[in-house]
Amino acid sequence: MLANAGLWLSGLMVSASLLLAACKSTDGAPRATGAGAPAATSAEPIKIGLLAPFSGPFASLGAQIEGGARAYLAAHGDSIDGRKLELIVRDTTGMAPDVAKRLAQGLIVRDKVDFLAGFALTPNAMAVAPLATEAKKPMVIMNAATSSLTTKSPYIVRVSLTLPQVTAPLATWATRNAIRRVCTLVSDYAPGVDAEEQFIKTFQASGGQIVDSVRVPVQNPDFAPFIQRIKDEKPDAVFAFLPAGSQGIAFMKAFRERGLDQLGIKLIATGDVTEDQLLDAMGDQALGVVTTHHYSAAHESPENTAFKLAFAKVAPQSTRPNFMAVGAYDGMAAIAAVVRALGGQLDGDRVMAAFKGLELESPRGHIRIDPETRDIIQTVYVRKVEKRGDAYYNVEFEQFPDQKDPGK
Ligand code: PHB
Repeated sequence: MLANAGLWLSGLMVSASLLLAACKSTDGAPRATGAGAPAATSAEPIKIGLLAPFSGPFASLGAQIEGGARAYLAAHGDSIDGRKLELIVRDTTGMAPDVAKRLAQGLIVRDKVDFLAGFALTPNAMAVAPLATEAKKPMVIMNAATSSLTTKSPYIVRVSLTLPQVTAPLATWATRNAIRRVCTLVSDYAPGVDAEEQFIKTFQASGGQIVDSVRVPVQNPDFAPFIQRIKDEKPDAVFAFLPAGSQGIAFMKAFRERGLDQLGIKLIATGDVTEDQLLDAMGDQALGVVTTHHYSAAHESPENTAFKLAFAKVAPQSTRPNFMAVGAYDGMAAIAAVVRALGGQLDGDRVMAAFKGLELESPRGHIRIDPETRDIIQTVYVRKVEKRGDAYYNVEFEQFPDQKDPGK
């Protein structure tokens, strides 16, 4: 209450000198403002509240997202028409919907952000969605990949992926490559359930057989008992989804140590399991694993080369960007495109209308926002882990272009 009164008072007490300062361009020269536009707002920053985990077990996801967002500003400039694009970064501390909600509230009410962005984890994004609706605040999803998320608020746009979007092509690829009997293994929360259900649906529709389906705890799973169970069933392949950030290494180790590959059991997965940031730590254990995903650091394009250079400048502590960094980079590109299209007038409904149908040349390839669903349409790549020099990469060898989210 008191804090609010203070803000209100200081809002009224804008001095003449502050007004004058706001009317100056960055080089200090007086700046023309549009007829009738309030002079004080012309140089106000465009505020983007970036919510992601920067501590706890998912801390690396936040680092990737912030790195990707800052890489965009480094590569393309950090202001539009004299207004700075300002990132206000908040740490959700992990899978913590209540924390995410409280932080989003602060960003909307106190910081008066123009955009909410980030969102590595589905449960956090789900918790914030009603606030976006209430405040009419555009919410740019840079990773969280559960299909239904975009239906939770008309103010959500997603520039990342959905689990069904990358899983359906893998099931198709598997049936085309003589894989007939599969065990699924997923992390036991919304995106894992999405991946499991889509794999089963597409795989069975083309004649495949699901031998068993295993869901492992989201935090600290001990993979050994699950892997033993799968080994006893001797499927042609295991399909896996685990969230990026840490578990892939333990899973890969357990898979190899139990000797599943020696029995001829293949590992196929979404790209989360062999994500770029973990790949070198997995080393030889990951060799030959086939995955589907929307981004690989090994993708060859001028846009990806420029992106990787910019990322290395702003995030030198990370070895390379992963798909979350690219989601953040593209999220910033989408925000910049909309700000330009609207001449900086950022009314929530007009912003959302501008996001619909937006097309971008991303480091992953061409992307567009489906005007019906506000979800992304993109190419999904089939990749295989290979060693190049001293490093390991997801090397793309087949494509499924123009993939919508089949979950809708
Ligand atoms: C999610 O919570 O939606 C999520 C997190 C990590 C991933 C994919 C999806 O790698």
